[in-house]
Amino acid sequence: MSLLGSLVLPVVGAPMAGGVSNPLLAAAASDAGGLGMLAAGYRTPEQVAADLVHVRDLTDRPFGINLFVPRPLDRAALEPAVEDFAGRIAGEAAALGTEVGRPSWYDTDHWDAKVHLVETLAPPVVSCTFGIPGAAVVDRWKAAGCEVHLTATSVPEALAAAETGADVVVLQGMEAGGHRGTHDPSAAPEPVDHLGLLETVLPQVGVPLVVAGGVTTPGDVRRAFGAGAAGVQVGTALLLAPESGASRTYRAALRSPRHTERVLTRAFSGRVAGAVANGWTREYADAPAAFPVVDQLTKPLRKAAAEQGDLERIHVWAGSGWRAAQERPAGEIVRELAG
Ligand SMILES: Cc1cc2nc3c(=O)[nH]c(=O)nc-3n(C[C@H](O)[C@H](O)[C@H](O)COP(=O)(O)O)c2cc1C
Repeated sequence: MSLLGSLVLPVVGAPMAGGVSNPLLAAAASDAGGLGMLAAGYRTPEQVAADLVHVRDLTDRPFGINLFVPRPLDRAALEPAVEDFAGRIAGEAAALGTEVGRPSWYDTDHWDAKVHLVETLAPPVVSCTFGIPGAAVVDRWKAAGCEVHLTATSVPEALAAAETGADVVVLQGMEAGGHRGTHDPSAAPEPVDHLGLLETVLPQVGVPLVVAGGVTTPGDVRRAFGAGAAGVQVGTALLLAPESGASRTYRAALRSPRHTERVLTRAFSGRVAGAVANGWTREYADAPAAFPVVDQLTKPLRKAAAEQGDLERIHVWAGSGWRAAQERPAGEIVRELAG
């Protein structure tokens, strides 16, 4: 049986990279009876190790950690478009008093070191997005005692995740905030919501299914369980909690009465992500499909925008239910969602 079955509340506090899902947020979700998740994406192995130690200090309950599965880029094919994009955003960087970031074409987000770290420190759950690790890696983590959750955004991805040995498959629908976990980043993500995915995958896959994307109210949670989900993974609903690491500018953008539209866009990172529309998403909707290189180029700009309160140049990752996000302790939000 999956660890999900032993939770008081089968609510997963989504891993949210970029400093949002820090040890405080993860521990608060776990302490409430759900499953808190740390985000290892973009962090160094040393930071990840420190986060694991910190969350263990904060809670005795189960928690997990999430890794980005790297995918090599076709540099020769993508470089001209990336250089063109870098040139286009140079003026924006200057306006923000910074410079365009440097591309690192062979960046794996420290994959091998993080795989080893997970094996050594053995958090109760390890989850992955952006692809499927090899079965050998999944086996190593399982042998260390970890439960392995793999993210899928389509039926074939869900079948592949289950075949690789996932204990749980996380079905992420198009309503989700932040990056779609689509395994092939150059492909257009499937325009399917979490209930649609669940309905098709459930009869075909024998492992527990967690659904993610737009789950923001107790009604959303009831519908997901009614349709056969073993758990829900919520991100956007927790963004405004005091424990969340979301910046002041990010929080202001989520509450801005002038920002009322949500888009799926590659504009900030080169990977499709759900975000509140702003000046940047309108201007750079055609950014090249080159994650993480586009992410690296825009990173100093987004950091400066966050520091300067610039709502038009910051990435405002948000799921379809972002207007229902509440400024309340994360534990209260998790308990209320679970009803
Ligand atoms: C700010 C933000 C960062 C995210 N970062 C990650 C991540 O690092 N790894 C991951 O698997 N999913 C990430 N996601 C997606 C979530 O795991 C989840 O699929 C999504 O939040 C569910 O949709 P919701 O935001 O509508 O609840 C992120 C989502 C947000 C909003």
